[in-house]
Amino acid sequence: MPGHIFVTRIIPAAGLDRVRAFCAESGLALTLWEDRLPPPYSILCEQARGAVGVLTTLNDRIDAAFMDAAGESLRVISQMAVGVDNIDVGAAAARGITVGNTPGVLTEATADLAFALLLASARRLYEGTRYIEEGEWITWDPTALLGGDLSGSTLGIVGYGRIGRAVARRARGFDMRVLAYSRTLTAEAARRDGVEAGDLERLLSESDYVSLHCPMTPETRRLINADTLALMKPTARLINTARGGVVDTEALVEALTNGVIAAAALDVTDPEPLPADHPLMRLENCIVVPHIGSATVGTRDRMASIAAANLIAGVRGEPLLHAVQAAGGLVKP
Ligand code: DGY
Repeated sequence: MPGHIFVTRIIPAAGLDRVRAFCAESGLALTLWEDRLPPPYSILCEQARGAVGVLTTLNDRIDAAFMDAAGESLRVISQMAVGVDNIDVGAAAARGITVGNTPGVLTEATADLAFALLLASARRLYEGTRYIEEGEWITWDPTALLGGDLSGSTLGIVGYGRIGRAVARRARGFDMRVLAYSRTLTAEAARRDGVEAGDLERLLSESDYVSLHCPMTPETRRLINADTLALMKPTARLINTARGGVVDTEALVEALTNGVIAAAALDVTDPEPLPADHPLMRLENCIVVPHIGSATVGTRDRMASIAAANLIAGVRGEPLLHAVQAAGGLVKP
């Protein structure tokens, strides 16, 4: 299949139409995986053979073997996401393959979802719905479904990149004190943003809400585990819109079951997708939604459009709108 472009999923027309038009004008064939489910790894590799460019999603395992299966023709891997933890960026750099992603355009949508989860968890919205469904709403009850205040409480933000900062802006509007932790945040920069820079231990022990916004890297894998959960207040709530692997799922189930922390609200899980009968789904104090942080019409259009533009630029040998640097493979969301 020489000289083709491989798009591994149906993406919004804002991107797909751009790729189609480019293929038509440049004489490249378009290989499009049209299933609802992503291609299994062996098919992913097979379909990529001879591709000059691949447009991927976070479901695809893009490792050295995939790149070797695609062959020497492959110039660009364009991911329709900001996170690239599914891509071996170092292996791509070693083969001269450019990697692109879509930062910036999903910042506000993801911050909105993080805040929606924070509010839903604080005010026990899903428990309230179930309360009615189960016939429990028989009177206004002075002691039922009491949640946490936002005003005057402390929000800890782990990972202070674009999305972390956007969450901090929202929190200030709710009169929350914001503590932020990131390796690169200086006290001076934090002050300018009206937040406090703190180390992880302090953030976990002082926060009423902890929201995760760090990229998934070897250093952040299972950053939230039995030891770090034990540092949190028993009344604290954990919000994760980053990557499921940043949290040790088994330790979280334990902590939610045994009252180590009060509640969790998750957009991302490990494993992902989460089976419907997973222990997390049976806990009253845990809300799970299916990785929808960037799922607004406008945001997904913008992500698809940038992914297409990156793909086209990479095939043409031009600079990408957003290229991921190989050094450490780290991209700040
Ligand atoms: C990303 O871009 O990494 C998000 O997780 C997609 O919603």
